[in-house]
Amino acid sequence: MGKKARLIINGKSYELPIITATDGNDAIDISRLREETGLITYDPGFGNSGSCISSISFMDGEKGVLRYRGIPIEQLAEQSSFVETSYLLINGELPTSEELSRFSLLLNDHSLVHEDMRHFFERFPRGAHPMGMLASMVNALRAFYPEIPERSEEDEINKTFARLLSKLRTLAAMSYRISMGFPVVYPSYFLSYCANFLNMMFDSTVRPYVIDDDMVQALNLFWILHADHEQNCSTSAVRLVGSARVNLYAAISAGISALWGPLHGGANQAVVEMLQAIHDNGGNVAPFIARAKDRTDPFLLMGFGHSVYKNYDPRGRIMKDMCHKFLAGHNVYDPLLDIAKRLEETVLSDPFFIDNGLYPNVDFYSGIVLRALGIPLDMFTVMFAIGRLPGWIAQWKESREDERGKLHRPRQVYCGYEERDYLPLGMRHAADRGDNSDALFRGKVRVRRTNAHSAVAIS
Ligand code: ACO
Repeated sequence: MGKKARLIINGKSYELPIITATDGNDAIDISRLREETGLITYDPGFGNSGSCISSISFMDGEKGVLRYRGIPIEQLAEQSSFVETSYLLINGELPTSEELSRFSLLLNDHSLVHEDMRHFFERFPRGAHPMGMLASMVNALRAFYPEIPERSEEDEINKTFARLLSKLRTLAAMSYRISMGFPVVYPSYFLSYCANFLNMMFDSTVRPYVIDDDMVQALNLFWILHADHEQNCSTSAVRLVGSARVNLYAAISAGISALWGPLHGGANQAVVEMLQAIHDNGGNVAPFIARAKDRTDPFLLMGFGHSVYKNYDPRGRIMKDMCHKFLAGHNVYDPLLDIAKRLEETVLSDPFFIDNGLYPNVDFYSGIVLRALGIPLDMFTVMFAIGRLPGWIAQWKESREDERGKLHRPRQVYCGYEERDYLPLGMRHAADRGDNSDALFRGKVRVRRTNAHSAVAIS
């Protein structure tokens, strides 16, 4: 018999099944809680809630572990390629050499985008952020390419995934070229996935781009490190939107929008902006650290902290190592790297950051790597999006195939006004309003433990 949890409410006892995980936290199954007890759970930010059962990636925030389909990120970083890692995430197993060649061929065959999509780009205002453009363009793909029908052959499904993986990279490079007023460079049959991207970004008829193997390797590694990360904000957005059975493109577009935020994927851009600001202020990290520690100041040290990792982010370690090697190997001097090192050293010996479990995350060094690759600042989050795409696809696919899957529809703990009458316009006076709603919207709720059925009260 499986393990059970016992919940006692007002003296009445309920048994809840426990789902055993392969690794990490087991889960109390509360799917019948409301039906049986009339209660729901409250978990802002969902930090204690499993939204699905998944077998794609595993992370242990305390130990700093990340695995894709069981394989440690360190091994994939060392030995795999981004295309192979994408295959692994989407299909569950490492490909044989024949499967890998077929997959690479599919990516090649579907790398061009419909010429009419260029007109869309041309109508965006100059200076529009490429993440906004990318989210719109991915949604627009649905108009040009069919979605996956409910009952389609595996070949058809794989074609759609390959199409998206390949076209997102082309669209990203196109958005940069058009924003710069440069002619678009088309993908080439003779180049690998990563080399193709660099070529589409930087090749020119007046200065042909010379493919550098180290750069290709660095980009491969950058994208492998970003390829999946369990139920993070953007992946949850893909699953939630996907649960309404929207087409794949719309679900991925939602993921791109979520990733844009500076607390999530937008942090790689914000880190470099912060390091630049420190540099422009004379390079002294102390005032920035002081601001981050001041609880009355909303300033955060970008690139530090993580919702799950309370130890070193394993991707951050690999990224840091690659950053040092790559810059040294190419004789690149970036003053921001010196500042980053000083900031990290100071932070890691400061009790405020240690006590709060704030360590460098993947974004802390990734921006410096991207700068060395010649990627412009406002394309940083786009680079993250290309890397995260195989993870989003794998998670979308898994949720689509999950027989327990449901339309995502969380509940809420309502703490607003009780029923009240509508006041005609002439009788309303702002001064008569209580400050009830104000307290609520700032989320000031406390739990009263005496009466389970009116458990939440306003403080
Ligand atoms: N600088 C200063 N203080 C911080 C930072 C930071 N970077 N991160 C967290 N804190 C503070 C929190 O405000 C909190 O203070 P409180 O107890 O007074 O409320 C305390 O440290 C503990 O925070 P956590 O609960 O560990 O962090 P949380 O889960 O709330 O937030 C997050 C995680 C959003 C990533 C946060 O650390 C952050 O904003 N970091 C900077 C942005 C960033 O680098 N984002 C990229 C994350 S990785 C990724 O998405 C790819």
